[in-house]
Amino acid sequence: MKTKVAIIGSGPAGLLLGQLLSNAGIDNVIIEAQDKDYILGRIRAGVLEQVTTDLLREAGAAERMEKEGLVHEGFNLYFNNRCERIDFCKLTGGKTVTVYGQTELTKDLMDVREAGSYQTIYQAKDVELHNVNSATPYVTYVKDGVTHRVECDFIAGCDGFHGVSRPTIPDDIRKEYENAYPFGWLGILADVPPVDEEVVYGHHEDGFVLCSMRSKTRSRYYVQVPLEEKVEDWSEERFWNELKRRLPDELAAKVVTGPALEMSIAPLRSFVCEPMQYGSLFLAGDSAHIVPPTGAKGLNLAAGDAKRLFEGFEQFYLHDNRESLNAYSKECLDRVWKAERFSWWMTTLFHKLNDNPFSRKIQQAELEYLTGSEAGKTTIAENFVGLD
Ligand code: APR
Ligand code: PHB
Repeated sequence: MKTKVAIIGSGPAGLLLGQLLSNAGIDNVIIEAQDKDYILGRIRAGVLEQVTTDLLREAGAAERMEKEGLVHEGFNLYFNNRCERIDFCKLTGGKTVTVYGQTELTKDLMDVREAGSYQTIYQAKDVELHNVNSATPYVTYVKDGVTHRVECDFIAGCDGFHGVSRPTIPDDIRKEYENAYPFGWLGILADVPPVDEEVVYGHHEDGFVLCSMRSKTRSRYYVQVPLEEKVEDWSEERFWNELKRRLPDELAAKVVTGPALEMSIAPLRSFVCEPMQYGSLFLAGDSAHIVPPTGAKGLNLAAGDAKRLFEGFEQFYLHDNRESLNAYSKECLDRVWKAERFSWWMTTLFHKLNDNPFSRKIQQAELEYLTGSEAGKTTIAENFVGLD
């Protein structure tokens, strides 16, 4: 098979890129290791910045999000037994975010792709990238015991953190920056009305707590747990009790509990790979960078990469200009590092970092300082809605 862009991975990065290319008539194929049901069974992020909602519209996959997505203009911070609302809409001149699950966004993008003429190959095993540092790269994979070869001009590595694309960049060129945190998030998804209309970030002496949602009838809650914690040791009842214990009384009293649709523990990690391009290979999304979820940036960074990479391909194929592709890695990394900084900072501000009471006092003082200052609130707001 021959194509222009071979996309590895059918997550948000690969699907968004694929749809923009397809709409521009640029040949592409998506090669994905898993099957569709497995991908749609994963519960992931849920807060979309404007860059992501705009892109979904541009891709022609925004119909359901327009109907079901919840537009938010602010969120709440709980600390020192009080609540402070960050009115990010007012603080950023009218910007909002949309609460809509990554799982739903992925489904919508898969549906529009299926209605079009470009292919996705699911359950592609042993995917390998070849001749990446040349103008004639190709990808091989095994399906139903048969090895297939896809010749292409470019490869887009959208295969997530554990994918095969990133390690294709030689060790002496690839530099990886990483910070692992000694805690994770235990999350629950349940069909119960959210405790608040807006997202709530809470700072408690025993650890971070987050109240989010997927709709007016579906809630997503998280509590910080030590990294060694096992999900099997958490009954649903234990989770609900811990959630309520970490929330201020007036909020805890409003929590509606119900059976879990999903419960899991996710580790927290910061990671960046430089460069994001090598020869004909371009990395996008989690294959190039990971952020802890505290700033709700992971999905939005993936969307930003897909948009920027599409612009490069558009310039190349429709205007015979490679400059934009050449600048891809540097321009993405400038944006990525700013989001890495915000995600790391939000994480260190809200989580229990150690047993030293000094650390907590400093966090409380920082939260008091930030929320007592217009400049402080603006800095949180403008990062949360996404920097330009
Ligand atoms: N070959 C083919 N496909 C692969 C391979 C491989 N060797 N390895 C992984 N994949 C697929 C995965 O099965 C997955 O469907 O690549 C896809 C990567 O998708 P995501 O992990 O969702 O990554 P991305 O598209 O970059 O989206 C980033 O996901 O983890 C969240 O917070 C993150 O919201 C952000 C978003
Ligand atoms: C979520 O809804 O899953 C969510 C919301 C905000 C975050 C992280 C996750 O910062």
